[in-house]
Amino acid sequence: MGARQDLNVVVCGGGRTGHLNAVLFKQVPGVRVSLLTTRQDVIAQHHASSESLTAFVPDAPPLRARLDAVGAEASLAAQADLVVLTVPAHVRAPWLRRVVHALPRDKPVYVGAIPGFCGFDWLAEQILAERPNAVIWGMKDVPHTAFDLHPGVSVRMGGAKQVLHVGTHARETPEARAALQGLLQRLYAAPVHLLDHFLEITLTPGNPIMHSSVVYGLAGPYSQWHGRAFPAPVCWWTDCTELGAYFLQRSDEECQRLCQAVQERLGIDLSSVKPLHQEIVEAYGDQIRDPRTLLSTLRTNQAYDAIEAPMAPAPTQPGYVIDKESRAFQEDVAYGLAVLVEMGRRLDVRLPHIQEIFDWNVGYMQGLRGSALDYFPSTWPA
Ligand SMILES: NC(=O)c1ccc[n+]([C@@H]2O[C@H](COP(=O)([O-])OP(=O)(O)OC[C@H]3O[C@@H](n4cnc5c(N)ncnc54)[C@H](OP(=O)(O)O)[C@@H]3O)[C@@H](O)[C@H]2O)c1
Repeated sequence: MGARQDLNVVVCGGGRTGHLNAVLFKQVPGVRVSLLTTRQDVIAQHHASSESLTAFVPDAPPLRARLDAVGAEASLAAQADLVVLTVPAHVRAPWLRRVVHALPRDKPVYVGAIPGFCGFDWLAEQILAERPNAVIWGMKDVPHTAFDLHPGVSVRMGGAKQVLHVGTHARETPEARAALQGLLQRLYAAPVHLLDHFLEITLTPGNPIMHSSVVYGLAGPYSQWHGRAFPAPVCWWTDCTELGAYFLQRSDEECQRLCQAVQERLGIDLSSVKPLHQEIVEAYGDQIRDPRTLLSTLRTNQAYDAIEAPMAPAPTQPGYVIDKESRAFQEDVAYGLAVLVEMGRRLDVRLPHIQEIFDWNVGYMQGLRGSALDYFPSTWPA
């Protein structure tokens, strides 16, 4: 990496998280930021004008940044010190395969995913097998929510995490972990904490159980909307049904059982993986008007207000259905929930609600095109 002022960061993915983090990184003196994107409009915009990208941040003036390079060629990563994948889990593999050959071989290169859920460490281990100089890492969550993207022009930052939790692949040395922490701390204002084990990320309850349970409650076999179209779009959390919250609570309890089994079998400490209700209450605090139950927490969390579920026009009747092409299925079910189901199977832990919800969701999305089982290590938990 050389002198402190020379840090080459390559952000992969020109979406909301990619735009926002690229602008944030570029605020740090001495950091060179390249954006690898397939979006021709973003590339053309960068070359056609010398305008900066803008990130609108809450309660502060907008941040602006002129990126050092924007393009579609993996060769942008040839000098990278840090590579940050910001693409959904179901498309990480092709993105990583595109950049791997371009990565430098003569220095450490820190290759990570934001967020790192769905077992990013296992995928990266496979694709970076011939790259001992690659240090694999992932962040437990996004550092900030990002929305309202105008590609190549601006993006809006939502709520920020107070602390950033980062995990590394089990193969990484203490020295590599410490260097990574220093590097990320240079890029982010919030404190960066290293997790002991990547499974703390993989097992943290989040979208994989949240979206699948809520959809099951909304459109599954016990719901009033089963086999019918919704008359109007629905919001994920403000419109969450009792049934959805019930299945989510049950799934979360099963996740905790799974954590217990993983701890016993692997001898690792997963006490940082909290039950979902507690996790949300601790993360959002006063933004939740009624934190009594999981249902009331979901419905009254200001940060969750008015987030629409992905809807598509119903094919055979007026109204809407939940879009089976959305990330709630293609990412969260196929790459997130599938990991939990497989862990339960390997460890002989019964997960009846998770299994039922998984099976229904997979049926709804008309089967899995790919899944986390494509890279789930055949030897785990050995
Ligand atoms: N946005 C948030 O606030 C938020 C909150 C929580 C978690 N997350 C997580 O953060 C990750 C990124 O989310 P995001 O909201 O930033 O996503 P996004 O705005 O949809 O952007 C994702 C980028 O990934 C690439 N991509 C998406 N679908 C693809 C496909 N089928 N094939 C190839 N490339 C594809 C595209 O990059 P190019 O444009 O360069 O092709 C796209 O711009 C996801 O895992 C998401 O679950 C985001």
